[in-house]
Amino acid sequence: MNSFLINGGIPLAGSVRISGAKNSALKLMAASLLTEEKTVLHNVPLIQDVLTMAEVLRELGAVVTFEDGRVEIDPGAELSHTAPYELVRKMRASIIVMGPLVARLGRARVALPGGCNIGPRKIDFHLNGLEKLGASINVEHGFINVESAGLTGDIICLDYPSVGATENLMMAAATARGRTVIESAAREPEIIDLAKFLTSMGARISGAGSDTIIIDGVSGLAGAAHTVMPDRIEAGTFMAAAAVTGGDIVIEDLNPLHLEIFISKMRAIGVEVNEFDHKVRCRGGETYHSTDIATLPHPGFPTDLQAPVMVLLSLARGHSIVTENVFENRFVFVDEINRLGADIRTSGHHAVVHGGCRLEGAIVEAPDLRAGAALVLAGLASAGTTEVRRIGHIDRGYENFEQKLRALGADIQRTQSNDRTPSAATV
Ligand code: EPZ
Repeated sequence: MNSFLINGGIPLAGSVRISGAKNSALKLMAASLLTEEKTVLHNVPLIQDVLTMAEVLRELGAVVTFEDGRVEIDPGAELSHTAPYELVRKMRASIIVMGPLVARLGRARVALPGGCNIGPRKIDFHLNGLEKLGASINVEHGFINVESAGLTGDIICLDYPSVGATENLMMAAATARGRTVIESAAREPEIIDLAKFLTSMGARISGAGSDTIIIDGVSGLAGAAHTVMPDRIEAGTFMAAAAVTGGDIVIEDLNPLHLEIFISKMRAIGVEVNEFDHKVRCRGGETYHSTDIATLPHPGFPTDLQAPVMVLLSLARGHSIVTENVFENRFVFVDEINRLGADIRTSGHHAVVHGGCRLEGAIVEAPDLRAGAALVLAGLASAGTTEVRRIGHIDRGYENFEQKLRALGADIQRTQSNDRTPSAATV
């Protein structure tokens, strides 16, 4: 895999336009399978995961074309129902085609996604919900086989507000007979974006963004066009970049309401954040204060911004406690950031970040997407040169990452890594 070479210590300044949200675009692409008609998505980020999802859709028989952030999907009348292991292993989010396939074809055969670096990533909530809608589930030879003679709406109470399960079940219920109520639903903004798209296709959905979503099944869905919402996690990553380099960045095309608690915590740490309708200005402070963080489902602190904020807390005065409540193993990057001079100790779901660190460049390895981005931020804040290896993880979710950082003044180059070890499983 390639590496980023970073010469740190430069305050970033200027403005950056945020791309479309990875964690919405992938689901919107899967939702296109619910109709035989063409759908068009605008503001789709050109990132590896989107390319992988396009491969999945093509493998299923859809025609997918890209053009400058515009994706046209023509599922056609003849779809396969099997999502192959090689693609599901490459991107576990491929599991999101299961609901649409069962709704459209009455069956789905999707490879078990398996775990990844940040946790086992089970899918029991997805499968239990589909069974509640009348599907039969059979897991054998590493594949999930879902059959249904026609889904029937019901009340589904999720054990946990799972984002993926909420999305899979919302899509499966869109053309089920009767009413489905999803209780303890995920409330992430990406859920609202998907509900908007499904509604434009003719679905009848209310309550998206709350913990109770009501879907009244309709006989069929039509093609539609939709613009993907801005990527709030990318935005938060750039806000953290401004903070860790003591810079001054305007993040364009962001809805600040999507990052309320993150902005509140950044201010508590000592970062100056000015909010506007569709952008924020983020300025690094002189001194940062230790602040405790606990990740939670939305509207709680987003787990995807836990690693970036740990970098910032390493520079703050005093000790901070970071608690990871969403994933089982999301401190995996701590050993890497400690190689740059941070002093973070973990015990179970808790990490104690000892502040006041002076970060110094070193060779580090990205273990996954968000940790990889956090290591780049740490390199930008470090004295000297940092090499971040295995940046293929970063390419999965950040469009033109180094180009955007260079435009803000960062000294960052992409190079061929000397690393010859095989790549690990991906998130
Ligand atoms: C989505 O993952 C995002 N991925 C993740 O972003 C994000 O961190 C996560 O939501 C939480 O916000 C995409 O949207 C593609 P969950 P998802 O189902 O849907 C457990 C990134 O970096 N669980 O809410 O997989 C699960 O193990 C990625 O962009 C079950 O136990 O998240 C985890 O501990 C990382 N059984 C917790 O729930 C299930 O059936 C949250 O998972 C499903 C989930």
